[in-house]
Parts: sequence; C-alpha cells; structure tokens
Amino acid sequence: MSQDVILEAIDVAKHFGTSGVWGAKGHSVRAVDGVSLSVRRGETFAIVGESGCGKSTLARLLMRLMTPTSGDVLFDGRQVSAIQGEELKTLRRDMQFIFQDPFSSLNPRMTVERLVGEPLEIHAPELSVPDRRSRVAELLRQVGLRSEHADRYPHEFSGGQRQRIGIARAIACAPKLIIGDEPVSALDVSVQAQVINLLGDLSRDLGLTLVIIAHDLGVIRHMSDRVAVMYLGRIVEVGDTETVFTDPKHPYTQALLAAIPSMDGKAVDHGATVHGEMPSPSDPPPGCRFHTRCPHAQTLCRTKVPDLSTSRDVSHQVACHFAETLQQRFQRPKPRQRSDATEARFALYRAATEGGTVTHNAKQNQS
Ligand SMILES: Nc1ncnc2c1ncn2[C@@H]1O[C@H](COP(=O)(O)OP(=O)(O)OP(=O)(O)O)[C@@H](O)[C@H]1O
Ligand code: SF4
Ligand SMILES: [Mg+2]
Repeated sequence: MSQDVILEAIDVAKHFGTSGVWGAKGHSVRAVDGVSLSVRRGETFAIVGESGCGKSTLARLLMRLMTPTSGDVLFDGRQVSAIQGEELKTLRRDMQFIFQDPFSSLNPRMTVERLVGEPLEIHAPELSVPDRRSRVAELLRQVGLRSEHADRYPHEFSGGQRQRIGIARAIACAPKLIIGDEPVSALDVSVQAQVINLLGDLSRDLGLTLVIIAHDLGVIRHMSDRVAVMYLGRIVEVGDTETVFTDPKHPYTQALLAAIPSMDGKAVDHGATVHGEMPSPSDPPPGCRFHTRCPHAQTLCRTKVPDLSTSRDVSHQVACHFAETLQQRFQRPKPRQRSDATEARFALYRAATEGGTVTHNAKQNQS
C-alpha cells in the first residue's frame, strides 16, 4: 500500500545546549528526541501534548526554521536541510506557518494590503501593482474579510479577524502545506469554531495539507484526520483521529482524553487522569518516559524504551510495552459522556457550520 506522503520526519531530534552558571556545567534540553512521522498529502494531521512536550520545536524543525541535532525532515521527498538557494525560496513558498498570536505575528505598522501582499512581492514579483491589489482583495474575500479592510492596520481588527489576515498571508502564494501552531488557542471559543471551519474550507478548496498543533482535544477531534500524541519529546501514539479517540491504547492518551476540562475548568476524572508534573526534558526518565506518572508502570518500563509499534490496526501505533493488555482495563468514557465544555464547543461549532456563513466540515468533506 503506497501512501502519498508530503512531509516526513525520520528520527528527528533537537537538543538545546544551555550554559552553566558560575562555572557549573551546562546541560542539554532534549526538546524533541527521536520523532518519526509521515503526513499524507491533503490530510489534516494534528499534534497534541502537554505544555513543554516539544510541539513547537517539532513544528519549527518540520518547517526548517531550526536545524535538527540529528535526523532528517523530507518535504515532497527532498531532504529539507540540504535545500539551498532558489529551491529554498520555493520551499518557503510551499510551506507556510500560522502563528498562535495573530497580533504579535503581524507588523503593526503595515496595512493589511501590505501584509497580505508581501508574500506575493517576494514569490510573485512578476505581478503588476494592480494585479497584486486585486489578488489581495480576492485573498481577503477567501478568508471572510472585505476588500475595504485592505487599508486598515492590525490594531483595527478583532483577534479572529487578525488570525484571518494571518491565514490570508499564509495562503497568498498557494502553498502545499500549512503548519498552524495553536492557531486558535488565543481566540474566543465562539471565534475558534469559525476559524477552524475556515481552515477546513481552505484545505478542501485549495487542496492543502494541514498540520495543526493544539491543546484542545475537542478542536482536534473535529478537524483532523489523524493525530499524534507527544510526551516529553517523543510520539507515544499515532493513528486515525476517530480510532485514537474511541480506542486510545497509550495510558497517557487515555489520561488526556479522560481529563478534558469541564465548564468550571476542573478535570472530569474517568479513572485515568494523569497526576504530577511532566519531568524536565533536560533529565528525562530512562526506559518509558511516562513511567514516573503511569499508573500501570512495571519493572520493564523503568529500563526499556518502548518503540512505536503497530497493533492489529496497522495505521495505529503505540509506544507502550503493555498497550494490548492495558486496553482491556481502561474504562473508556461513553461517546455521549462529553464534558460540558466539549458539548458547548460542539454546539458553537454546529451553530457556525449551520449558520450559513461557513458550510464546510473538513473531515466530512475529505472522506
Ligand atoms: N531555544 C530554546 N533553548 C532552550 N530550551 C528550549 C528552547 N526552545 C524550547 N526549549 C525547551 O524545550 C522544551 C519544549 O519546548 P516547546 O516550546 O517545543 O514545547 P511546546 O510543547 O510547544 O509547549 P507549549 O504547549 O507550552 O507551547 C521546553 O522544555 C522548552 O523550555
Ligand atoms: S510502557 Fe509502561 S510506563 Fe510506559 S506507558 Fe506503558 S505501562 Fe506505562
Ligand atoms: Mg508551543
């Protein structure tokens, strides 16, 4: 079975060296520590995990905004670290980034016209000024803004509108892939649904591949085709989103799903909630990195690193020595047993979808 893979990470690691204080020896932060993944052309691939687990570092490695300590990233079959000159310019056009904070990522002194037109100036210099202007107007329309917005400055917009400007910039030169690092987490919940819908529409209409980093499991379930769960610099589970959500095999994934917060911000404990702090990536535990917090840890877990391996479902991979036996013990919340917050989010999502302004559900339309 051959999959059309657009982006691949092969055993990628990024270790940050820190200098010691007062002559003390520095240490190394293993932010990403041996990640392999494949993103298929046209899919929406999500990456989830706790704060500090290495998601943003991984995103930057995939985009070639950072050089890996070891390992390779391939984009369309080419090793990105080896790309230079004109080819690098093409890579920058084909892979775009959407930032978490739409305010700090937009130059406050530039009008929307200049902000959205800038990538065109770089990658399509042959466009005349009037042609560029009309292309900017078309891009604004595509992201749900109006052409008269072109003369305004970022501070004149709401957070959701600013993120739409960021998205217009990202799609300006028809990229093949967009990586969004928490693209909606700085927005109000009601606006989040609209921006998620917009990304889904664009991925379908423009044939885009999306890699989305998000904390919110509700968001991911709704918009992604596949999901990778990260813990302390490594991927611990990866598979089709629906499979991972309904049949999580790694204790950490089970805990994340069990701890989706309720309306009042408290975790809903279904019996698998993870306790304690994530260990420091400068001194990760030996063996399975999750063993210090795993309720099922055994002697083997403290010494032997579990590989990501497939179970009966070849598209579902888990890094746990005991995934198959633990599976029977996990009390999965029933499908209807969602938290209030998740229910509220789905209601908003449905309202945005059925409200007439946005009609596309990325997942449904890709299937
Ligand atoms: N430039 C750097 N120098 C040293 N350590 C770094 C650097 N960048 C990130 N780190 C460390 O690497 C680890 C992973 O950071 P990263 O930002 O990738 O995590 P994250 O999963 O994106 O977290 P969050 O959800 O909070 O955004 C953290 O411990 C962080 O402190
Ligand atoms: S390998 Fe052991 S410690 Fe790690 S997740 Fe599985 S049971 Fe828990
Ligand atoms: Mg981050």
